[in-house]
Amino acid sequence: MEGRAQTWHYGLIAKWWAEFNDDFRPHEIPYFQRYIERGGEPALDVACGTGRLLIPYVRAGLDVDGCDVSADMVALCREKATHEGLTPTLFVQAMHGLDAPRRYRTIFVCGAFGLGSTLEQDQQALRRFHEHLEQDGTLLIDIEVPYADEKLWQHWLKDQRVKLPETSGQPRSLRPASDGTELGLRSRIVELDPLAQRVTYEMHAEQWRDGVLEAQEDHHLDIRLYFMNELLLMLERAGFADVVVQGDHNDAEPTSDDDFIVFVAKKH
Ligand SMILES: C[S@@+](CC[C@H](N)C(=O)[O-])C[C@H]1O[C@@H](n2cnc3c(N)ncnc32)[C@H](O)[C@@H]1O
Repeated sequence: MEGRAQTWHYGLIAKWWAEFNDDFRPHEIPYFQRYIERGGEPALDVACGTGRLLIPYVRAGLDVDGCDVSADMVALCREKATHEGLTPTLFVQAMHGLDAPRRYRTIFVCGAFGLGSTLEQDQQALRRFHEHLEQDGTLLIDIEVPYADEKLWQHWLKDQRVKLPETSGQPRSLRPASDGTELGLRSRIVELDPLAQRVTYEMHAEQWRDGVLEAQEDHHLDIRLYFMNELLLMLERAGFADVVVQGDHNDAEPTSDDDFIVFVAKKH
């Protein structure tokens, strides 16, 4: 069970996140923040990445720790925090092996559940979250529903699946980074297994300086594709009795048109 979770958030991809992803899906930040502010401290940001959510929360004076399986993402998160004079507790850990220094009133996982893990590891992660919550604490997990991405959804069908792997990814466009380099990413779908509910992507990353290619990397990422009802059952198996599902970080009932849904699970 302790096997390594396989993610691609290392090296140039971690650098890309630190450089360009702070403004990604901004409505997620106040959504989780409200739960922490309403008596939800201390909180743990599981898979905190480079601190897109964690740093604004710590800046606002909230007691929030962070963990992530990628030492590169954690190092960049720490660097950003230090730059602002902030010193959050950060640690490198896979969520299924979570062993945090304290217990929390809120644990939240944004954009990371099912990345690079097996079904067993995901079930184990839910048990670890349950164990790390204080009594009456709240777990918040979001997922992108498997039918959200039109291109990906087509590959559930046999006649589309045989066309995988995709031959070419999206075109690479270089973006200027703060250190004078330019970064480009290109991803493609390699495989989709509908029985295992798993898609495998490949990401090619390049770093250029003054028109010269300085570095390039290729990474793979398996993503587990969950539907609402199976995650509800998994949460129940992990000990969460009281679970509400909400729409795309909006406090409303979920609808069939929501690309993301959030599970709000109480530990009693
Ligand atoms: C899409 S990023 C999201 C980062 C951050 N939560 C945010 O919303 O900005 C996914 C993050 O999950 C981390 N991650 C992937 N699999 C993980 C696992 N099994 N346990 C802990 N972190 C994981 C990656 O290293 C990466 O930092």
